[in-house]
Amino acid sequence: MFEPIGLGTFRIQGKKMTEVVSQALDIGYRHIDTATMYRNEKDIGKALAQSRLRQDQVWLTSKVWHTDLEHKKLLDSIKSSCEKLQRDYLDLSLIHWPDPTGDIPLEETLDALMKAKQEGLIKNFGVSNFNRALLKQAAKHVGREQILTNQFEMHPFLQNRAIANLCDEYGIRVTAYMPLAEGKVMEEPLLQEIADDHATNPAAIAIAWLLQHKRTAIPSSTKPEHLRTNFDAQHLHLSPQQMHQIDSLDRHQRIVDPDFAPQWDD
Ligand SMILES: NC(=O)c1ccc[n+]([C@@H]2O[C@H](COP(=O)([O-])OP(=O)(O)OC[C@H]3O[C@@H](n4cnc5c(N)ncnc54)[C@H](OP(=O)(O)O)[C@@H]3O)[C@@H](O)[C@H]2O)c1
Repeated sequence: MFEPIGLGTFRIQGKKMTEVVSQALDIGYRHIDTATMYRNEKDIGKALAQSRLRQDQVWLTSKVWHTDLEHKKLLDSIKSSCEKLQRDYLDLSLIHWPDPTGDIPLEETLDALMKAKQEGLIKNFGVSNFNRALLKQAAKHVGREQILTNQFEMHPFLQNRAIANLCDEYGIRVTAYMPLAEGKVMEEPLLQEIADDHATNPAAIAIAWLLQHKRTAIPSSTKPEHLRTNFDAQHLHLSPQQMHQIDSLDRHQRIVDPDFAPQWDD
């Protein structure tokens, strides 16, 4: 199942990654988010192999890098992810970033994802860092019901309402990446105040706010106590007033903006 809280794995590699995934699985995480670009699929695969969980018990998302969007390269990339993760299939494969060169038609990439799905290499596919124009183009080609999620940066300081609203209209799940603004939520006085009220910390409040907005959140952490706080955020209930207060923190403060990014909507 595409659980609303998943484990982010960007920037964590090697033994540390294997250890973090094992700790997360012990806590109860059943959704892991990785990417070929994170160079940690093998480390995650080790933890999965060591766990007693069957492959249908842990949801795995990986992403195809933008240099591999051509039909054959995409299928090879997915096969390589499966091998490294020691799995027969991925639950979800995402186009990590749209093709910045414009050389590979989006339709070709989507057809390759459809093919991967038909062949049983992936159960679902989706996109990441897609703006409204690209999402419309993708939905027009494969049908909006084929696109499980659009994963993009979302936290209290960047709420990305234009693209989020289109996802809602299309019935496409929003996955919020960097839900803690890389830890910056810890310094926000309002989040601290609400956290005090719930006897938790601002990271948990940011996650609870996303979940209550029906977003999927994939926070990362290298510390067991943080992994637990983040996982337990799903049991918090913020009042309508607290939700509204956090809604008002939007500052359009984008953290991830590489030179190959598409033209953002907000
Ligand atoms: N699709 C894309 O292009 C894309 C881009 C970026 C990220 N992502 C995905 O989104 C995931 C999350 O983003 P991210 O890892 O960059 O940033 P993040 O989850 O927003 O923040 C991680 C930072 O927050 C700290 N933290 C975590 N839990 C905490 C807690 N309970 N209390 C205090 N501090 C806490 C961590 O430090 P400690 O380790 O000390 O806990 C770490 O420094 C990534 O791992 C990746 O899977 C996707």
